[in-house]
Amino acid sequence: MTVRAGNATGLRCVKCGTRAPITDDRYVCDACGGNLLVEYDFKALRRTVTRESLAKNEDRTIWRYLPLLPVAARLPGPPVGWAPLVDAPKLATSLGLRSVLLKDDGKNPSASFKDRASAVAIQRARELGHKLVTGASTGNAASATAVLSAAVGMRSRIFVPKAAPRAKIAQLLTFGAEVLAVDGTYDQAFDLCLEATRRFGWYNRNTGYNPYTREGKKTVSFELCEQLGWRAPDLVVVPVGDGNIISGVWKGFQELLRLGLIERAPWLLAAQAEGSAAIVTAVNGDGVIRPCPGDTVADSISVSLPRDGDAAVQAIRAADGFGVTVSDDAILAAIPEVARAAGVFAEPAAAAAYAGLKEAVRRKLVDPSWQVVVLLTGNGLKDVGAAMKVAGEPRTIPADPSVLATLFPNP
Ligand SMILES: Cc1ncc(COP(=O)(O)O)c(C=O)c1O
Ligand SMILES: [Zn+2]
Repeated sequence: MTVRAGNATGLRCVKCGTRAPITDDRYVCDACGGNLLVEYDFKALRRTVTRESLAKNEDRTIWRYLPLLPVAARLPGPPVGWAPLVDAPKLATSLGLRSVLLKDDGKNPSASFKDRASAVAIQRARELGHKLVTGASTGNAASATAVLSAAVGMRSRIFVPKAAPRAKIAQLLTFGAEVLAVDGTYDQAFDLCLEATRRFGWYNRNTGYNPYTREGKKTVSFELCEQLGWRAPDLVVVPVGDGNIISGVWKGFQELLRLGLIERAPWLLAAQAEGSAAIVTAVNGDGVIRPCPGDTVADSISVSLPRDGDAAVQAIRAADGFGVTVSDDAILAAIPEVARAAGVFAEPAAAAAYAGLKEAVRRKLVDPSWQVVVLLTGNGLKDVGAAMKVAGEPRTIPADPSVLATLFPNP
């Protein structure tokens, strides 16, 4: 027997196009091993998912889009999604653009965008009757899984690179995940986790393997358009590692088009770190994903072999989008720049999106009349070590009132 995945009607391979029915244990294409896209009957959904039906819905979380998600019910627990869209006029002025808006996904329960994906994957696991979710992650997908699993009493068994920032490991341990700190890279942790899944039959939420993570991620596009009064922005800037966020963002806009909720989709800008740029290199070249060094200060997008690379390249090309790379210095410099101008604290991977926008503006790839949304996918408190590299150190003074006159001779 197969447990239905909400209103989803089937799966289609990103690589070879082969269609497959939804089954309890299907993750990838039987024919070629490619990743799978979840399909729905949009003709039917058009009748029930309307601007009016959503306007009446008071649920300000990703679950307001439940009919468009591959689960029957919402995941109980802390609210995920409906992240603030912060107007950043100072950044717009400094870049010479009409409008820059920051989607502050660091406001999610585990402080990153990955809550969107983990929420859907954990709910699917529950509907299948699993008691344990496993996953490999650079850190945020794992934290999201730990936080949201804890709330529903699901066990989580997590593989992370040993070098993941301490805050992310602290989140995992605090929320009761069983943490396996792999003495190796994210890519090695990923392969180990897959092997364990095959051997032991655990439910696996790995990015770019589990087809349902992309479904959670697409909700950001729904939110953006709804927050903007059912108008898509001109450009959405996405920080890219495995490529699952950007393929989800694109899928979300395509679904809104098919539902008749928007009239046109935005262009997409993929931002990658210079040292971890497999997807941008493929987009700007022959479209084929090849492993790269995977070396950047932005740990969340430090990926050698992107696991959703094919879908990401397809999404960027279909969106008539483009990709840029940014140096680690530019990524770090973007952290205080965004914080001071717009009041949002971004972790390095999220700051890479803003640095990418700056680079695209410098290369005259962005029309000044555009309204641009930058996805700030993770909170700066996730990696204070990185922020301190550019924020500097405080001045230490004696706890002595007499020092004040010397410190502030002209207050
Ligand atoms: C904060 C943050 N930004 C961006 C990304 C990149 O997402 P993806 O790997 O789907 O491209 C991640 C992934 O871990 C992340 O945690
Ligand atoms: Zn295939």
